[in-house]
Amino acid sequence: MGFAILNGKIIDRSEAKVDIEDRGYQFGDGVYEVIRVYNGKMFTAVEHLERFVKSSNSIGISLPYKTAELSGLLEKLIDKNNLQLGIIYMQLTRGVAPRNHAFPTERITPTLTAYTKEFARPDESMKTGVKTILTEDIRWLRCDIKSLNLLGNSLAKQKAAEAGCFEAIQHRDENVTEGSSSNIYIVKNGVVITHESNNLILKGITKDVILDLCLANNIPVEERTFTLEELASADEVFLSSTTSEVMPIVGIGDKKVTEGQPGPVTKKLQKLFQQEIEKQCNKLN
Ligand SMILES: Cc1ncc(COP(=O)(O)O)c(C=O)c1O
Repeated sequence: MGFAILNGKIIDRSEAKVDIEDRGYQFGDGVYEVIRVYNGKMFTAVEHLERFVKSSNSIGISLPYKTAELSGLLEKLIDKNNLQLGIIYMQLTRGVAPRNHAFPTERITPTLTAYTKEFARPDESMKTGVKTILTEDIRWLRCDIKSLNLLGNSLAKQKAAEAGCFEAIQHRDENVTEGSSSNIYIVKNGVVITHESNNLILKGITKDVILDLCLANNIPVEERTFTLEELASADEVFLSSTTSEVMPIVGIGDKKVTEGQPGPVTKKLQKLFQQEIEKQCNKLN
């Protein structure tokens, strides 16, 4: 089972237990991050830790560790668990207090937990592409916070799973927002188009890497809202996330995208993304 972090200490994972009145458990009152590990090294660790702090500050929880300290602790956890290829899941809640919707008036210590998991790269799906469904975005208006409240996302993903699909593409009325656990992109006439990073989507770390790669490689980008109609008439569609990297979308509902094959811009971005991983985490097998 390996080791986990509980409140700054690395302990046996079977002993990492949280109180039933932890506000994360009762209210989803907390935030989380998922960090990719390749060759035993964290990819875009600084960016993930910065977003972790930003998310927690935006709901009034302050991380009781310096990010450098936390980063060092996560490195130790990777070593102790001998993790080569996988993820770190990390979450911070407001802490333990008698159940009451309002925050406790006395100071409580936030609960920090983290563990690792082996997780292969989705090589086969990245080659063939994945199918998706469309679903109404029923979530709250602070999707920019990586909060533990994932019920809307979870219901959307379940719909996709029941349809035998990889992801649910969410939309608010006519506008596409993001996937249940990914950002969504269309390509039209060589231009990569993706929702602007505002309160309606999570500002993906993978999205930021992809947009930087586009900029550095003269691939035009528009960060703006796009419609269901634009999605339906796109030349290519893909999604991105920490675990899915650059993932081609080859089906939306009953409709095929790019004749059921990953498109050229998507494939180029996959190649550039792989180079970026290797730059940060050494050559991949
Ligand atoms: C709702 C949502 N949007 C976007 C993303 C992609 O973010 P990242 O690239 O940082 O993994 C995720 C990742 O889990 C997510 O849950």
